[in-house]
Amino acid sequence: MSEQEKSGTHYAVHWQEEDYYYPPAEFVGQANMTDPKVFERFSLDNFPECFKEMADLLDWDQYWHTTLDTSDAPCWKWFVGGKLNASYNCVDRHLAKFKNKTAIHFVPEPENEPIMHMTYQELYRRVNETAAVLRDFCGLKAGDRVTLHLPMTPELPITMLACARLGVIHSQVFAGFSGQACGERIWDSESRVLITMDGYYRNGKLLDHKSIGDTAVDVAAKLGQQVDKVLVWQRYPGKYSSSASMIEGRDYFMNDLLKTYARTYVKPVSMPAEGILFLMYTSGSTGRPKGVQHSIGGYLSYVAYMSKVIQDIHPEDVYWCMADIGWITGHSFIVYGPLAIAASTVIYEGVPTYPDAGRVWRIAEELDVNIFHTSPTAIRQLRKAGPDEPAKYNYKFKHMTTVGEPIEPEVWKWYYNVVGKGKAAIVDTWWQTETGGFLCSTVPALAPMKPGSAGPGVPGIHPVIFDDEGNEIPAGSGKAGNICIRNPWPGLMQTIWKDRDRYVSTYFGKYNKNPESKDWRDWPYMAGDAAVMAADGYVRILGRVDDVINVAGHRLGTKEIESAALTVEEVAEAAVIAAKDEIKGTVPDLYVSLKPGYEPSQELVAKISGAVATVVGKIARPNKVYIVPDMPKTRSGKIMRRILASISNRTDVGDVTSLSNPEVVEHIRKQVQG
Ligand code: WTA
Repeated sequence: MSEQEKSGTHYAVHWQEEDYYYPPAEFVGQANMTDPKVFERFSLDNFPECFKEMADLLDWDQYWHTTLDTSDAPCWKWFVGGKLNASYNCVDRHLAKFKNKTAIHFVPEPENEPIMHMTYQELYRRVNETAAVLRDFCGLKAGDRVTLHLPMTPELPITMLACARLGVIHSQVFAGFSGQACGERIWDSESRVLITMDGYYRNGKLLDHKSIGDTAVDVAAKLGQQVDKVLVWQRYPGKYSSSASMIEGRDYFMNDLLKTYARTYVKPVSMPAEGILFLMYTSGSTGRPKGVQHSIGGYLSYVAYMSKVIQDIHPEDVYWCMADIGWITGHSFIVYGPLAIAASTVIYEGVPTYPDAGRVWRIAEELDVNIFHTSPTAIRQLRKAGPDEPAKYNYKFKHMTTVGEPIEPEVWKWYYNVVGKGKAAIVDTWWQTETGGFLCSTVPALAPMKPGSAGPGVPGIHPVIFDDEGNEIPAGSGKAGNICIRNPWPGLMQTIWKDRDRYVSTYFGKYNKNPESKDWRDWPYMAGDAAVMAADGYVRILGRVDDVINVAGHRLGTKEIESAALTVEEVAEAAVIAAKDEIKGTVPDLYVSLKPGYEPSQELVAKISGAVATVVGKIARPNKVYIVPDMPKTRSGKIMRRILASISNRTDVGDVTSLSNPEVVEHIRKQVQG
């Protein structure tokens, strides 16, 4: 039995290979990358020196002497000896040419609030002043960690860039995460400063956000991490939009502090290329979230190149990535990649379908957005809510991206024909928090698109599919396996924060044969996804092979959800599986059994579901909670999630006779399927 069958959280996507779609000539005519030799330049023969092409997109205070240092394999060091500052590269260096060009278009959710267009000059000023607060009021210096729990407003990238200016490591926690989840991340990263906001809009409501920060600080304190200062941005500067009290001596309004530092210039700290830019916590196969650690020089080079070559962003374009900056997509492709190449990037505060299914297309029309980036879940949502809406608006996309989950060919075709009006190139980009930027995608002007397939490796990435024994599965064989990358690349995480062993075992443990080796060829990176490679080298991603489920493109650990359920007194055992969902791709179904003496009830179901939302966050709230008499178990007592998954998804449960309690399977099936 393969790993994915054992874990039972894996779902193959059964669609067939589709025909090619060719990029529109108009797109090709203006594209940034039209040289087919790029793949030759990035061949393994030219590894690792080829990556100079990426690093040369940046301004270096000091050029590097060693492109790749493998002495601490597999913790690769890129561009060693080089020095630079990420904030300088994303802001200051653009002033000479683009001072009065928009850096950020901020679209508030309420449609009657004006869109704000922040120029590079304004961004520069606000980043400097914010950096002054962090340095002079908070005493933060290079290497310190700060937790951000900010929603989708310009204050988020401003704060990130202010940290980067000082060499301070930011750890932004998705605003939708609970106080508990945020507190654990404060603790793990050892932050003594939390930066939050009083409130923000979602679905027409001004949410009280500051109170979640208070819980986070308490949770962190209980775990042993003291937070000295909580900085609070205000959604409406000068007005407080939260019911939570401001704690004397701990909580400060940014708006007040900034007055002291008006017009202050903060010199960007020249940082080593292999310094740490940020941590991004993500779910893994064990309960504790992993702090994925990204470098300054390697990461920024990589995302700048991807924004230029794969997303085809030019400074004169209006680029909108409709993701949340609280996830890696937003870090790499709303903030760092686009700003490094002087883009105008759109930040939208709210929900795509608020107040109606036309909102997204109205924004596109009003701002002349010509590059659009979103997830399959958002596309499915928009298609369901208003399949004919895009035609009503006069916008024109030249390029569109999809990311985060497999996209069904039908959904892809709606994206292409209706959203893109048949005139936009599409890239389906497969990658991960850990990988910094894209791994597989077509280079849009150089290769045709294939609905449902991400594409071959991007320049510099050499994917390979291995079976469980480490044999290569040949392209075109139609067999699925574990997708790996043969080589290191500058965007790859440096390690897991404070947990090198976990980094090595999670991503390299399965296929590395010699842990002492300093040769990068011995360290293929295992992504944790199942995939098939067609004869043309295009990769189709089938889903996770570990205990991670992908809900609406968001990674959730099954263990995190299960341990949240176990905080409920009555619950004895919990198992989460990924159930198919028309809009979100997959959603968590939670199966629980109760301790003796307790009876199932609707109240208990609500209590369990509520516990998951409180402990992990609303995005993790189970789709269904089933209270079952017992879990299907192997003779050794392992819960067979695979069987529960088959029941939720109405597929064949297979042979269950070897279980210790086979009779329970039919009972659960009737309970769930009726
Ligand atoms: C999945 C998001 C299919 C995959 C950037 C991966 C995808 C996980 C795609 C990473 C895609 C991402 N097609 N599946 N184009 N992009 N995935 O870390 O399972 O939030 O391992 O990074 O999302 O999720 P993460």
